[in-house]
Amino acid sequence: MGSIEQQWRRGFSRRQALCGLASFLAASPLLHAQRDPYPLGPHRRVLGFDEMRTAFDFEPVFHDNVPLAIYDYTAHGTDSEFTLYRNRDAFDWVELVGGGGVTPAEVDTSTELFGVRMDSPIMLAPTARQRDLHPDGELGMHRAATSAAMTMIVSNVSSFPFPQIAEAADGPLWFQRYATRDLEGNRQVLDMAQDAGCQTVVVTIDQQASYYERDLHDRNLGGAPRRARRRTPQNPPNPYRVGAGRLWYEWTLFDDLRPMIEVPMLAKGILTGEGARKCLEHGVDGIIVSNHGGRSLDYGPSTLEVLEEVVEAVSGRVPVLIDSGFRRGADVLKALALGAVAVCLGRASRWGLGAFGEPGARKVIEIINTELVHAMAAVGRTTIAAIDRSIVRTSFP
Ligand code: FNR
Ligand code: LAC
Repeated sequence: MGSIEQQWRRGFSRRQALCGLASFLAASPLLHAQRDPYPLGPHRRVLGFDEMRTAFDFEPVFHDNVPLAIYDYTAHGTDSEFTLYRNRDAFDWVELVGGGGVTPAEVDTSTELFGVRMDSPIMLAPTARQRDLHPDGELGMHRAATSAAMTMIVSNVSSFPFPQIAEAADGPLWFQRYATRDLEGNRQVLDMAQDAGCQTVVVTIDQQASYYERDLHDRNLGGAPRRARRRTPQNPPNPYRVGAGRLWYEWTLFDDLRPMIEVPMLAKGILTGEGARKCLEHGVDGIIVSNHGGRSLDYGPSTLEVLEEVVEAVSGRVPVLIDSGFRRGADVLKALALGAVAVCLGRASRWGLGAFGEPGARKVIEIINTELVHAMAAVGRTTIAAIDRSIVRTSFP
């Protein structure tokens, strides 16, 4: 934390000053008021762990736990944040058509991906630097995912080394890579992740042109976003506002990486049928439809809107996963009905970890999976395989 932010945290806000004055007056013998201390005067009550009911409940607790720059790093989208909000709006354009006739106890959310059985089609998206959220960071997130029987994708930009995260729990791990131009450098990292047992490698290709204005406004507060923007040999200065580290990506990247990867290789950041076909031409084994949670190119579509286009282009040759904006079990169900085989949670999992550490992360994913069970029962589907297009009606603009 920078010294300016320290001052900011110690400094008096107008609200605190007024509360202090009110406490002083209330305690003043002149007013014959009580003299007991009132240490929580400026605070409002924060909800406790047992009061968490939806994924959204965790966000304000997380917000209150961390410095603003850390909160903003999780919350922000690119530029005007149009796509960030569109990701959420899109769920309003997909109606679930009720069917009923099934109780939640009959519902089974298990599924299979790359020959591996999963208890749920919900996974954890790769998100960077989780120790900023809680001292346990990715270690706690992996333990949470394991205890909820879910697969975690570990970010290339994790706070702990991948092998240490892998040791923290037994559950399945995937590894996400931001390729560097120096090909041999990629090989070392990919060997390290595969030696430590990653089940797939996810190659992220979006976020080439992203820029976060919230970070700009936080620039005097120090913290993670400024550190992330430091210049490195992989991220040299360039004439644009964005780092140059990823501006060179081409489809042939997958051809270069393929010989280094013995497990399935997925492409993350695909938003068009054409992009999906290119991935298949270049040896990709799976696709994650993603706009990076609105952190890539702004004014792009929500992922839910383009999902069917990608699914049709791929026509069953490789699995199609999706992320960006998923917060509820019903959101997950809508994507499964439109052809996704799994859904990844980004911010929702960070809110849980940042609010209550490992138990918080576990509770968020359990809540969303329980909501999925209830939503499946409500539309009369007992298995993931039975979810089809007929349970949704779309009205995308
Ligand atoms: C991300 N995301 C991301 N993606 C990736 O491939 N590597 C990474 O290191 C990160 N880091 C990261 C940090 C933070 C704070 C966020 C919010 C996101 C993108 C992530 O994998 C996923 O695409 C989005 O988070 C999905 O959108 P929601 O669920 O956050 O709305
Ligand atoms: C982000 C990068 C690390 O979204 O992917 O912040």
